[in-house]
Amino acid sequence: MTDTTTLTSAVSPRLGSKVILVTGGASGIGLAICDFLSAEGAQVAVTDLDHAGAEAAAARIRSRGGRARGYALNVADQQQVEDVTESVIQDFGSLDGAVNNAGIGANWAPVAELTAETWRRVMSVNLDGVFYCISAQTRHMRSQGTGGAIVVMASALSSVGRAGAAPYVASKHAVVGLVRSSALDHAGDGIRVNAVAPGFIDTPLLRNRHDSASVANLEAMHPLGRLGKAEEITSMVALLLSDESSFITGAVMNIDGGYTIR
Ligand code: NAI
Repeated sequence: MTDTTTLTSAVSPRLGSKVILVTGGASGIGLAICDFLSAEGAQVAVTDLDHAGAEAAAARIRSRGGRARGYALNVADQQQVEDVTESVIQDFGSLDGAVNNAGIGANWAPVAELTAETWRRVMSVNLDGVFYCISAQTRHMRSQGTGGAIVVMASALSSVGRAGAAPYVASKHAVVGLVRSSALDHAGDGIRVNAVAPGFIDTPLLRNRHDSASVANLEAMHPLGRLGKAEEITSMVALLLSDESSFITGAVMNIDGGYTIR
């Protein structure tokens, strides 16, 4: 594991030196979030199934004068979630916020042809993983007594269906229920829990699943006429982690170019 370094850049008032854990931080939206949170002054625990990718993301932040550390974490393994959360607190001294971003898709299949294995695999990461993370994070934040802020990566597909994507759509609907209930359970502990719900964002996850014709179709489904960029998700996440959003909890913020208002 790489050593942390001292933050040398100017500290932004938005996130101060809050310690933020990000899951799925090695690629796509999660990677952009790690970079942005660091630029906003946060100390970032970059976690990912891809350990080398997490280390590389953390090293890049440190090379710019930020404070970050990479961790291997499979969010579908509750013991790993418990152990890594504990390690982050030992390494950084506290846990002030978290972005539960890690998620996977599945190959297209109508429900009649869907295997239980595919269903379980998607649920184990996108739903069980988020539960394991929120559970560990709220317990630590509660025992610290300082409150905290948690952001979950939902989706435009948290509120509408999509043919051939039932496990993904169901998992993203379910995490919104988990966010709302967690927000109620822990409001009294000073812990805010919110979700962001992106439309289709141009990331490796998306490019691995769509050819150029399919991408053009997706673009046309957004009234703004294009896919989103990972960088367009980051400022809302930073806002929800910051004290500027101190009266926002249980909310689902759509960042979808109008996808869900058609
Ligand atoms: P991505 O595939 O570029 O990045 C996902 C990251 O999560 C990867 O680094 C991967 O190694 C990691 N990961 C996968 N399984 C994991 C596990 N079990 N434990 C820990 N890490 C794991 O994907 P992208 O597009 O950046 O997606 C991030 C999140 O945003 C996901 O929750 C996804 O559902 C959500 N989202 C993505 C949209 C898109 O159009 N790209 C739209 C709406 C939501």
